[in-house]
Amino acid sequence: MGGYGVSLVGHCHPKLVKAIKEQCERLIACHGSLYNDRRAELLEKLVKIAPKGLNRIFLSNSGAESVECAIKAAVKYTGKHEIISMVRGFHGKTLGALSATWNPKYREPFRNLINPNFKFVPFGKLDRVEEAITKDTAAIIVEPIQGEGGVHVAPNGFLEGLRKLCDEHGIILIFDEVQTGFGRTGCMWASEHWGVRPDIMCVAKAMGGGVPIGATIGRDDVMGSLKVGEHTSTFGGNPLACAAACATIDVIIEENLVERARILGERFKRILNDMIDEFRILREARGLGLMLGLEARVDIHNILMRALKMGIILLYCGRNVIRFLPPLVISMEQLETVANVLREAISEEEALLAKGVINDGT
Ligand SMILES: Cc1ncc(COP(=O)(O)O)c(C=O)c1O
Repeated sequence: MGGYGVSLVGHCHPKLVKAIKEQCERLIACHGSLYNDRRAELLEKLVKIAPKGLNRIFLSNSGAESVECAIKAAVKYTGKHEIISMVRGFHGKTLGALSATWNPKYREPFRNLINPNFKFVPFGKLDRVEEAITKDTAAIIVEPIQGEGGVHVAPNGFLEGLRKLCDEHGIILIFDEVQTGFGRTGCMWASEHWGVRPDIMCVAKAMGGGVPIGATIGRDDVMGSLKVGEHTSTFGGNPLACAAACATIDVIIEENLVERARILGERFKRILNDMIDEFRILREARGLGLMLGLEARVDIHNILMRALKMGIILLYCGRNVIRFLPPLVISMEQLETVANVLREAISEEEALLAKGVINDGT
C-alpha cells in the first residue's frame, strides 16, 4: 500500500528525519509573502528535475490543492472556462478537483455544488476529446496513468495527440502526476515515458516523504497569469514541509530510486503475469515501474482481507483491481514475500469458488 503512494522513500528515512529535526530547530512556519531559504532551495530543486519549460511553481499542502491551482491558472491564462477531464479520472475531492473527478460515488452527494463546466471523455480516445473541444475550452486534465480509476496506462499516441490538440486550439494541458510523480513509474515523471510535456503539472503525495506538501509546476506565462493575491495558501511552502521535500528529492536521486522502480517493477510485473497463468480468477497485470494493478475476474475483498491477516496491507482500486504502490526502497525479497502471500490468498479464494462455498461477487 505504501501509505497510498506516499512512502516512496520508505518509513522514517534517516535523511528525512534529520532534515525535519534540523528545520524544527531553525524555523517551522514562514508565510509565503516572506523569503525563506529552505523554500528557495526546494523551488530550485523542483525546477531542476521538472520537465523543461516548467519553471514557475505554486506550493500548497495536498494533491487536490495542486489541482485547484492548475485549474485557476488555466482559466485565468486562457480567459475560458470549460475543462475536459477523463472517464475514471481522479483528481481529489475539494470542489474544483471533485468537479474534475469522474467517480459518481464521490460526486453525487454534492451534485449541486459540482461545476457544470467540466466534461468527461473516455480515457485514451482522441476522437472523443476532439469532439468535446469548444471555443470555451480552457484545459484538458489527465493522469498519464490513471491510479484510483484502476491503474490504466495511457495508450501510446494518446498523450502525444492531446499535446497536438492543445497546441492547435490554444488549450492548456494539465498532467496530474500526484500519484505517478517522483519516480514511481520508473521515470521521474510518467509523462517522460511518452516524451510529452504538459503546460502544468500537479504533484504531491510522495513529495514530502509523508509531510503534507503539494506543488503546481507550470509554464512561466501560464502560472504568471495569476496575479499577486489571486491564489494563496497560509501553510503552502512552509519551511518544515520544504525541508522534508528537499530531503525526499535528494534521497530519490542519491539512491537511484527511479531506476530501482523500473527494475523492480519489471520483475514484480513478471511475477504477477506468472500468477495470471496460474489462476483462473486473474485477468490482467498492468502499470509501469512500481505502480501496478492486478485485475481479477471476481470481487477482491476476501483476497485483501486474507492478505491483511497474513501481514500485508494491499490496496484496491475498484472492486476487482489490486493496486500496488510500494515504497521504491522495497527489496526484491520483500516483494517476493508479498507475492507469496498474494498467491496463498488467491488460491484459497479460487478453491472456495470452485467448491461453490462463495460466489464470485459479480
Ligand atoms: C492523481 C491524483 N490526483 C489528486 C489526488 C488528490 O490528492 P490529495 O488526497 O493529496 O488531495 C490523488 C489522491 O489520491 C491522486 O491520486
